[in-house]
Amino acid sequence: MEFPRSPRIPQVIHIVLLIFATILLQSRNVRGRHVDHLNYFEYGAITCRAHSASLTDFGGVGDGITSNSKAFQAAIDHLSQFESDGGSMLFVPPGKWLTGSFNITSHFTLYLHKDAVLLASQDENEWAVIDPLPSYGRGRDTEGGRYISLIFGTNLTDVVITGDNGTIDGQGASWWDKFHKGELQYTRPYLIEIMYSDNIQISNLTLVNSPSWNVHPVYSSNIIVQGLTIIAPVTSPNTDGINPDSCLNTRIEDCYIVSGDDCVAVKSGWDEYGIAFGMPTKQLVIRRLTCISPFSAVIALGSEMSGGIQDVRAEDILAINSESGVRIKTAIGRGGYVKDIYVRGMTMKTMKWAFWMTGDYGSHADNNYDPNALPVIQNINYRDMIAENVTMAARLEGISGDPFTGICISNVTIELAKQAKKVPWNCTNIEGISSGVVPLPCDQLPEHGSEYISACNFPTDSLPIDNLDVQICSYRRKYPLDSVIKYL
Ligand SMILES: *[C@@H]1O[C@H](CO)[C@@H](O)[C@H](O)[C@H]1NC(C)=O
Ligand SMILES: *[C@@H]1O[C@H](CO)[C@@H](O)[C@H](O)[C@H]1NC(C)=O
Ligand SMILES: *[C@@H]1O[C@H](CO)[C@@H](O)[C@H](O)[C@H]1NC(C)=O
Ligand SMILES: *[C@@H]1O[C@H](CO)[C@@H](O)[C@H](O)[C@H]1NC(C)=O
Ligand SMILES: *[C@@H]1O[C@H](CO)[C@@H](O)[C@H](O)[C@H]1NC(C)=O
Ligand SMILES: *[C@@H]1O[C@H](CO)[C@@H](O)[C@H](O)[C@H]1NC(C)=O
Ligand SMILES: *[C@@H]1O[C@H](CO)[C@@H](O)[C@H](O)[C@H]1NC(C)=O
Repeated sequence: MEFPRSPRIPQVIHIVLLIFATILLQSRNVRGRHVDHLNYFEYGAITCRAHSASLTDFGGVGDGITSNSKAFQAAIDHLSQFESDGGSMLFVPPGKWLTGSFNITSHFTLYLHKDAVLLASQDENEWAVIDPLPSYGRGRDTEGGRYISLIFGTNLTDVVITGDNGTIDGQGASWWDKFHKGELQYTRPYLIEIMYSDNIQISNLTLVNSPSWNVHPVYSSNIIVQGLTIIAPVTSPNTDGINPDSCLNTRIEDCYIVSGDDCVAVKSGWDEYGIAFGMPTKQLVIRRLTCISPFSAVIALGSEMSGGIQDVRAEDILAINSESGVRIKTAIGRGGYVKDIYVRGMTMKTMKWAFWMTGDYGSHADNNYDPNALPVIQNINYRDMIAENVTMAARLEGISGDPFTGICISNVTIELAKQAKKVPWNCTNIEGISSGVVPLPCDQLPEHGSEYISACNFPTDSLPIDNLDVQICSYRRKYPLDSVIKYL
């Protein structure tokens, strides 16, 4: 009599083989650890994640031609199920990943390998059109809506966009061209925009050729922007580096920016829309920034500042070949305020103006702005700076009947260029003091002598954002079951 063969035996063997193959793959991960940075690596983040996946698990193709918009969105939609289960990370391996816009989720990390390049699609159909920002009332380029940013998130908590210096290439040339020719249907997209969110980290990436602004956190709080290299042609329109906009508690550090507009532009809404929305940018730290911006500012405050800008602390800044160091831009009709601004330890090489304040910037959202809405510019402190090859030390223009007050400049040495303007300081409608400043400032900033050298105070307390720490996290490639079976 023949016994029937138990169907269980092959199944058991199969399971044993699967376990064996998994162990083999995982041990390859460990061996690959210092070699390929594909299967295991460590990185710094505000939160570590329990779950992970690779873009290739969702059909991603890194050939630079195939659109990965669907792969990104499918991956993130899948990973969003782990929001309340330890969070998740999407790994983007080496390759050229063409993609349109995609939306990220909460408790989520997007990690770009150093040889991963996200290529922004130039097909306008890959960009949804979204409403203008309520604090702006309209798009910046055109009235009405705006193209969504390449990486977009709204109403999120705990998001990390990082890598070991992977690249996001906005392929902006066609957008700049349309902008110049007046052919834009909607306002150009940004590279990264995070709205109404809390706990955000954007770090260790290279961003090139953005269609417009690069990094735009708006209506958000507790934000770290660290270790970004941002590059765009110096003639490209509106390619601002980092624009904290109506944000509370932001820290921008160790960034290198060469662009066609301001390296850091601090904002808070436009005219009557910004006043009505009423959300300031407050408690902003900027440190160790290197900036090249031949036609704009290293740090600009405004011109959209109608929700107010307060408590900005900037230090250890290197400016090379830039139009101005710190610039305040505002206008009648903006309302709002720029106050309690502290900048120290700035080195400037080849500048048009070290300091620039403009009270008649104009540029209104529409004609319905309130002519009685005067901005308040007050308590502006600049100290411990050296500048060389400067065309004009400062151009400080307040508003008639609304002077900019409490301006303090101390321990600043500005070496003028051979072709410098005859009058190094030009001040109108401003009030303040100076101490130890060369060349001697205008009469509106009387010299108080060297005993006042530390007059322009810099706060000694720390801000809450200084306590938001980055921890060491690790990623281990988890092979989905089908690739384990293929390995068999
Ligand atoms: C960025 O990279 C540097 C050096 O590679 C590392 O020390 C730092 O922790 C990273 N920071 C973040 C926030 O990713
Ligand atoms: C992303 O979100 C925006 C608005 O919240 C929406 O208009 C857009 O269609 C979403 N994009 C995708 C790819 O789902
Ligand atoms: C996001 O949050 C804002 C402000 O709290 C709210 O007005 C808006 O409706 C929220 N949007 C979504 C899509 O939940
Ligand atoms: C990141 O890449 C950019 C562009 O290649 C490079 O200039 C920069 O030095 C790199 N940063 C780091 C920290 O390696
Ligand atoms: C003046 O500024 C320089 C940097 O430009 C700094 O090294 C020096 O300590 C400052 N002096 C005082 C008295 O703060
Ligand atoms: C000084 O600035 C001018 C432009 O204003 C530039 O052409 C020149 O090379 C600079 N000189 C130095 C020594 O950097
Ligand atoms: C100084 O600035 C005022 C107002 O901005 C301007 O009208 C004037 O021509 C400037 N003077 C010089 C000498 O540049």
